[in-house]
Amino acid sequence: MQLTYNINPISALTPLGHLCYLLYNQGNVNKGAVIMSAKLKVSLANLAHNIRQINKQAPQASIMAVIKANAYGHGLIRMAQAMQELSVPRLAVACVEEAYELRQNNITLPIVLLSGFHHQDQLDFIRQNNIEVVLHDPWQVDMISKIPQEASIPVWLKLDSGMHRLGFEASEYKKIYQKLSLLPNKVDLLGHFSHFAALDPSKESIQSQITCFNNTTTGLKGLRSMANSMAIMHHRASHFDVVRPGLMLYGASSVSTESAPDWNVLPLSTLSSHIIAIKKLKKGDAIGYGSCYTVKKDQKVAVVAIGYGDGYPREIKNNAVVYLQGQPCKILGKVAMDMITIDIDHLEQVHIGETAELWGKHLSLEQCALQCNTVPHRLLTQLSLRIARTYHNNASQQNTIWQTEGVYDGH
Ligand SMILES: Cc1ncc(COP(=O)(O)O)c(C=O)c1O
Repeated sequence: MQLTYNINPISALTPLGHLCYLLYNQGNVNKGAVIMSAKLKVSLANLAHNIRQINKQAPQASIMAVIKANAYGHGLIRMAQAMQELSVPRLAVACVEEAYELRQNNITLPIVLLSGFHHQDQLDFIRQNNIEVVLHDPWQVDMISKIPQEASIPVWLKLDSGMHRLGFEASEYKKIYQKLSLLPNKVDLLGHFSHFAALDPSKESIQSQITCFNNTTTGLKGLRSMANSMAIMHHRASHFDVVRPGLMLYGASSVSTESAPDWNVLPLSTLSSHIIAIKKLKKGDAIGYGSCYTVKKDQKVAVVAIGYGDGYPREIKNNAVVYLQGQPCKILGKVAMDMITIDIDHLEQVHIGETAELWGKHLSLEQCALQCNTVPHRLLTQLSLRIARTYHNNASQQNTIWQTEGVYDGH
């Protein structure tokens, strides 16, 4: 049997997602049947909006889109294709494996390896595939200067301006720069990098990091890049030539006291799944593993097909909710590997197959992160392969309701 299907609007699904989509389209599964329970619906129109917003916010700088960790869970290849279609000039990933995936899938944009190469064996791939590497440690400089043949690897030099993780000290930076400048046949020195330690935009350390970076790199040849999402929004002096948005691209704020609407970005993703069971429990019945939640009255509950095996966090606070029929429904008991149980006693009628929203229109990603004791970056990047990612070109209205509804009090 030949497998033919129209890739739009669902494309670049996980292998499991593809299988379900094929079954669905061949009629092996009734149309309308639940084929893939947990889904991440991604709005490419909102991505376009967010890129426009970043360009407005940092008009003098160009964008290096950070798409590491499976494009923050949204799907590496499809997001890279979208960035390419939207004329984003540069992509950034964390490791060679991610760069390899991109080149294997015909992504031709410049790709920057944020933590550089980790091993000499990676240099051949880097050179042959025109990958830009961030050099942050003397061992990398030694290794690159000893490449036997002429190579011309494009490199960025990283300054440790105060994060104390990767990067050369300010005192040794110029020496390293001069050493590399004497190796034009081995390296093509593209520019200078640094990264902020602070999450809170009001921290004094931010200004001292900008000053250190500016003083150290002024007068040196090459582009300068420092700003992540927080700095794009709050510190114009950090924009320099190239900004490096991550979370902001995906429509969320990385500052815990601010939200997507404050930044005028639109959330890209909605995470949802389906009701697979409905039960009437009696007062005193306990739910799930460890029987750790006991119902206080006779009541209806529903089981939603999503759990920590899909990447939904196990560590939720007491009042954590999902949304059904636009209403908050409390999660009862523990998050299991494949399912959660929710309180539906306040809803008139609930049906098997109905969609429950874990985050999206009614509960923002940031709020969901709060109720799961984590950060939006983590919620997104831990989404597992079992989640089908679907891509849509229509703008979503996701940022309208949750902001005004105090469903979650943060405790
Ligand atoms: C070096 C570097 N630049 C930029 C970013 C993007 O950060 P954010 O997602 O906060 O915008 C990251 C992400 O961790 C990073 O490691």
